Order: sequence, then C-alpha cells, then structure tokens
Amino acid sequence: MVREIAGAKAVGGSVKNGVIETQNIEATLHYHEATKHYPHRYARALGYMDWDTQPNPFRSYEGADVVQLPLAENDPEAGYRELYKRAGHPARSLTLENLSLFLELALGISAWKSIPGARWALRMNPSSGNLHPTESYVVLWESAGCSPGVYHYSPFLHALECRAGLPEASAALLKAHFKTGGFLFALTSIFWREAWKYGERGFRYSNHDMGHAIASASFAANLLGWKVSHLSEVADEAIGRLLGFDRTAWIEHEEEYPEVLCYVRRCNDDDVPKGLPDKLIAGVSGISFQGVPNRLSGDHVDWEIIPATAEAVRKSSTAAGSAGYYEKPFIAKTESELTAAQIIRRRRSAVAFDAETSVCADTFFGMLAKTLPRRGCAPFDFELGPARVHLLLFVHRVTGLAPGLYMFVRDESDFGILKSSSKAEFLWKKACEGLPLYLLEEGLLMREAAALSCNQNIAGDGSFSLGMIAKFRPVIEQAPFLYRHLFWETGMIGQVLYLEAEAHGVRATGIGCFFDDPVHAIMGLEDNTFQSLYHFTVGGPVEDSRLQTWPAYFHLKEKMIDPNRVIRFDSP
Ligand SMILES: Cc1cc2nc3c(=O)[nH]c(=O)nc-3n(C[C@H](O)[C@H](O)[C@H](O)COP(=O)(O)O)c2cc1C
Repeated sequence: MVREIAGAKAVGGSVKNGVIETQNIEATLHYHEATKHYPHRYARALGYMDWDTQPNPFRSYEGADVVQLPLAENDPEAGYRELYKRAGHPARSLTLENLSLFLELALGISAWKSIPGARWALRMNPSSGNLHPTESYVVLWESAGCSPGVYHYSPFLHALECRAGLPEASAALLKAHFKTGGFLFALTSIFWREAWKYGERGFRYSNHDMGHAIASASFAANLLGWKVSHLSEVADEAIGRLLGFDRTAWIEHEEEYPEVLCYVRRCNDDDVPKGLPDKLIAGVSGISFQGVPNRLSGDHVDWEIIPATAEAVRKSSTAAGSAGYYEKPFIAKTESELTAAQIIRRRRSAVAFDAETSVCADTFFGMLAKTLPRRGCAPFDFELGPARVHLLLFVHRVTGLAPGLYMFVRDESDFGILKSSSKAEFLWKKACEGLPLYLLEEGLLMREAAALSCNQNIAGDGSFSLGMIAKFRPVIEQAPFLYRHLFWETGMIGQVLYLEAEAHGVRATGIGCFFDDPVHAIMGLEDNTFQSLYHFTVGGPVEDSRLQTWPAYFHLKEKMIDPNRVIRFDSP
C-alpha cells in the first residue's frame, strides 16, 4: 500500500518516484509499540541470561593484515570548555599517531574491571549492558602511516585491520571530491549483540549506543583540531558497499548494518560535500576484501522483528538538509579542574547513587545548556538535523531549585505543541533566565522516577533524572529512517550528560529500561506525537568496592586475555 505525498521533498529515505511507502512507516510505528515496556509486561526477550551464547564484544577479521596503532603517551592539554568549542584547537596533521589518538579517545578501551572469575573491558563510549553493538571503520587515501585502504578498528588490539587496499583511481576520486586532507569514518551496528540480552527492544538500544559513539567521536576529534561531519546524503546501501559488506561472509544473525558515514577533517577547513560520487562507490564495488568475521556467539535467537524493522528504516540517497544551528553563548558559571581528555577517559556509569548529593542550580543549568545544538561546537555540529528531543526532568536534589517536574525545550518552536499536548494544569513557569527551562509542577518525585525507570533506584537516588521526549509520529511520517536519528540524538545528549557529570564531580547513567506509556501519562501525552525514548540519571555515585580496576591496555603488554574468549558481565 502506498500513499501519494504531493510535492514530497527528497528528505526521506523512502521517497520513490514521489511516493512514500506507508508500510515502512507502519512497520516502524509497530516496532516501537511492540517494544514498549509496561509494569505488567516487558517487551519480548528471552527472560533469562543464556550465558553460553553471550556475544563476543570484540569483532575481528581473521586473516586480515593488522596495523598496530601506537598508544597515546601524551594527551592534548585542552581544558574542559574546549571539549565543546571548535575554535582554538591547533589542527593536527593526519599521521598514524594522531589517527590512533582519535580512535582511542573516541572508541578505545578505557579500563578493565574484574571480580573473581570474570573480567570485562569498559570503553570511552558507554553501551547498554556493556554489549557494544557499534563497530567502526576508516577509509584512508592520504598517507597516514599506512597504505590507502578500508580498515576496521579493533578496540581490543587498538589496531587497524586492513579489509581492502584502495585502488589508485578511487583514492584520487576521494581526494578530488573532498579537496581537503581527511578521511572517512564509518559506524555500523551488530544488532544481535543487544538482542542477545534485551530481545526485541535491542534494536532501540543499538541505536542509543550509536548516538553515544557519534558524540564520542565528535568530542575526540575536537581535541585534535578535527571535526566529524555527517555525510547525510549517502544511502546505507552505499556505505555497505564502500565497506565491502556485500562481499563479506557474515555468520547468520551476526551481520553488521551500515549506519553512519562521516568525513573527518581539520576544523578550519572549508565546508565539505555531504555526499559521495556514484562513480566512487562503483569503483570500489569490484575490489576484493580480506578477512573473515570472527564468530561472536555459538548460537542465536531469531528476533525477526529486528531485521524487518532495520529494513523499514533503511536510508536511501537523499538531499542534504540544513540543521540551521546558531551561535549561542555557554551560560556555564562553573568550571572543571579536569582536562577534556581526562573527562573523556574517566567517564563511567554509576551503578548506584547515594540519595544525598546535590548539584547547585548553576551547575545544573550549565549542564542543560551544553545539550543545546550550537554552530561551531561539538558534538551537535555533526549536523544530524534540527533538535527533535526535549528533556522531561525529575529534579530531586538541585540546590536553589524547587524539586519537581520540569521541561527543557531544546527547540523552542515545539513549545506550543508540547504545552497543548501536556496536562492542562502544568505551570510552564520559566525557571532560568536565558534557558528554555520550565517548571511544570513542584513535588518530590523520587519514587515516581524510580518506578517509571523499571523500578531502578538510580532514577530516584540521583540529583536529577530525565526522560528524553522526542517529537515522534510526525518525524517518522516524514521518513522512517529518522526513527534511528531520534535515538542517535538521545545518545548524543546522553554522552554530553555523561561528560558533564564527570567534569563536575558527579556521575551519570543511561537508562534504556523504562515504562514507556506510564511516562507519557505523567506528562498527559495522549497520542504518539511525542514519545519518551531514553532515560538518564545524574548524581553522587556509590562505588562498588568488590570491583578491581585494571589499566586500559595492560592486556596488550601482558598478552593475558584472549579476544575470542567471551567475557561475562552480569550488567544491570
Ligand atoms: C543506551 C544505554 C542504556 C543503558 N541502560 C541502563 C539501565 O537501564 N540501567 C543501568 O543500570 N545502566 C544502564 N546503562 C549503563 C550501562 O550498563 C553501562 O554503560 C555499561 O555497563 C558500560 O559501563 P560504562 O558506562 O561505565 O562504560 C545503559 C547505558 C546505555 C548506553
């Protein structure tokens, strides 16, 4: 069944001869409804942990040539504020050392944790259940200490695995197309890793993780004077062909889905194209790829709705939109003693909060302000599109601010529709001069917040927690592929909050488990114009004293961990 859209602009992934495929919209909306958690019924999953099939969190390509990357000896000295601001960072050249530092700070291992009998790696980017569905690739054509080619980044080895050499003609095409010296950086998802634990809802979590990885890469690039720009015109299928996914012998259920293609370049270079020439993709279509993907799990469960939804939200080639961000001053009055790199390396999720620690209102306002897209500032100048996600805040312990329910309207053009869709009795009283923050109602909401987040105390014991309320149905109707972008945007906001928390001596945790419609009920939302997509909490952490910590890359020096041994982790 198809529906004619008069004069449909080519902004959507499903635009075919002026017709949008309604079934993709319906499949996307159906997936979202089917994967809601309710207090009486969770989304479909196995219901127990099948430890024997736990997926390996590290992908490798057996037989591929490996280029070892040097681990950073000195981090950039940039301070906390330079995490965000692009101006002022000396632009580094593209060398193996600098590429290595970018990948390490973006997606590398940050530490190992252990309890007797189990050891697991943590990374710069967080991941639901620490399962890490996100993989990354670089395509190099300039000299960067290794020959032009398509490489997979292995965080375990901190190495590049060469999947294919780039023919001279393709390298020349890329050079001519982008004009500035840079490289392509691609992110992909292995949905099985999340589905193993979370079943059908796993597709949502993989997309949250993707947003965290995008923001993590954007911040890392900034410290080198580089910028990560989204090649928003490119079709998923073209990304897959560029990475050789159509010539890779995937194990059933373990295939990688192409998601994001970016161009990484020096900040001060001119704007770059947002697409890739067709002849480039045609040129790499013939080259052969080396390396066989390692097996991640001994067995799988076929969660059919995930590949079906992945198909419905596939992106085809589109015209680039303009995000239209403005320059805005940061309102932060509070500073951090930590350098930007220290903040990135220290980021961790809290497993429990002390139900005591308060943050002061200025710190809180400063954190919220960082989640606004700004021109020339990481991470939102990645340019995913207009801000479509707002924050429903449960303020528990913020000194100088009444506890209660607040709304942070990240795009004020949604103010009217948000207000008219919510409970009539809400106050909508401005809570901070210069910020789109509104008090909806006063009250102590610790118990409600915890109950709504699948009865997890972390949502009530922090200083504040929040639900990320996305403009939903109108966006999916515009183009189903934007379903993924909504989740990416929430992950990007989450990454900002993780780093902000770390910078201010508190800690954060992403919360993928929440009861969807009860959250909507607390706001009074009666249809799916808006939906809550991700929860988050920030507060004073309680450390788990049973855990031992090991340095990030000690395993390479001591050669003591086998990447193909599955590392068990009974995460929340
Ligand atoms: C999308 C997402 C959802 C998450 N959901 C939860 C959750 O519901 N409860 C929880 O305690 N932790 C949650 N976490 C935190 C992860 O368990 C944590 O990121 C992971 O164990 C890795 O630890 P790290 O963040 O310290 O690197 C979530 C993290 C992400 C990125």
